[in-house]
Amino acid sequence: MHCVRNVTEDLYWVGANDHRLALFENIHPIPRGVSYNAYLLLDEQTVLFDTIDWSECRQLLENVQFLLNGRDLDVLVINHMEPDHGASIEEILLRWPKVKIISTPKSFMLMRQFGFHVDGHELLEVQEGDQVTFGKHTVTFINAPMVHWPEAMVTFDLTNGALFSADAFGSFIALDGKLFNDEVQFDRDWIDEARRYYTNIVGKYGPHVQKLLGKAAGILDQIKYICPLHGPVWRSDFGYLIDKYQHWSSYEPEDKAVMIAYASMYGNTEAAAQALAAKLAERGVTNTVLYDVSNTHVSYLISETFRVSHVVLASVTYNLGIYPVMKNYLEDMKALNLHNRTFALVENGSWACRSGDLMQKFLDEELKCMTVLNERLSLSSALREDQDDELNALADAITDDLKNN
Ligand code: FEO
Repeated sequence: MHCVRNVTEDLYWVGANDHRLALFENIHPIPRGVSYNAYLLLDEQTVLFDTIDWSECRQLLENVQFLLNGRDLDVLVINHMEPDHGASIEEILLRWPKVKIISTPKSFMLMRQFGFHVDGHELLEVQEGDQVTFGKHTVTFINAPMVHWPEAMVTFDLTNGALFSADAFGSFIALDGKLFNDEVQFDRDWIDEARRYYTNIVGKYGPHVQKLLGKAAGILDQIKYICPLHGPVWRSDFGYLIDKYQHWSSYEPEDKAVMIAYASMYGNTEAAAQALAAKLAERGVTNTVLYDVSNTHVSYLISETFRVSHVVLASVTYNLGIYPVMKNYLEDMKALNLHNRTFALVENGSWACRSGDLMQKFLDEELKCMTVLNERLSLSSALREDQDDELNALADAITDDLKNN
C-alpha cells in the first residue's frame, strides 16, 4: 500500500519511516525511529530525488509506482549516495531501466565502489551551477562536499523553490504521518533529536556546513521548501532552523547552561556531582543537566555538549587513567571537532589520583579553544564535609564565569 504526502503541486514525499532500526549507522540509538525521505516530481519528465534505505525499499517502490500511475520514471537525481539513501538505486534501475541518473562525479565513483550497478544506464555528471529542465521545472545543482560525505550536493528547484538539501537540515525521529515542520512541535518534541543527529553525524564538518549556509543565504529569499533526507520538510520558520545550524556549525553554544558529566564507580563521584549541582542552584544557576557517562550513550553527551556553554567533567581514576567511558566521551569530542567550551574538573582517586591532570591535558592538548577553570575539586574516594569550602569555590567559579562570559 502506498503512503505518500503532497509537498506542493506536483511534488510528493515518497519516503518511508523506520522504527525497527535500533542503531543509526550501527552506532547511534534511535528510540523514536527515523525517516528516509525521497521526493517525486511529476513534470513533463518524472523525477525521483534520491532513494531510501534498502530496508524500506518496498515502501518506496509502492509509493513511486502509485504516483507514476503507469508512467515511466525518467530521471533519478542523487544528492547523497550514502547507503541509507542510495541502497535502493539498483532496484529503481531494475524497475525503470531507462531512467537517467544525475549526480556528481564523486557520487558515481562511490556508487561503483559500493557495488551499485549504474553503468550501462544513462548517467549525467553535474557541476555546481549546472541547470537541467524537466518541463515546467528547472533545477540547479550546488555542491555540498563533506556535508557530510565528499560527494554530496543539494538541488534547488528554481520553479517551486524546493531545496533538496541532502542530510543538511535533517533529524532523527520517524515522521509517522506528519511531514511539515508546522505539523509538529519542533522546538518542544524534535529539537533535541535534531541536534543529536546533526552533532553526531555532521558535527565534525562545521566549516563545510558554514560554506553551504553561505550559499543558501544567497538564495534564501527564493527558498520555499527545505526538503531534507531525514525528518520534516520545512516550509516556514527558516530563521529558527538556520540559527540552530549557525550555532552548531560554528561550535557556539546555544544556551548558557552547565552540563555535569560524571563517571562514578560506587556513587561517590556522583554524590559530588549532585552536591555541586545543588550549590549551583543555590547561586541561581538552574539551567543545569547531569549525566552519568556510564549509562548515557555518548551521542546524547555530545549533543548536550554542543548545546551548553559550560561542562563539568567529574571522573574517577581507573587503571591510573581516565575512566574509560569518560575517555571515550572526550575522544568523541575530539573526533567531532568540538571546541569553544569552558570546563571545570572534579577528580577522584583512592590512591594515585590522576584523572584531573589527564583530563586537563586532554582538553589542553587534544582539543581546540577549550578553557579550563583553575578551581579543581579533588576527592580521595569521597567528598568530605571539610571540603565544603572547596565545593563552594568551584560553584562560585562556574557561576562567575557563566555570568561574565
Ligand atoms: Fe542520511 Fe549521510 O546519510
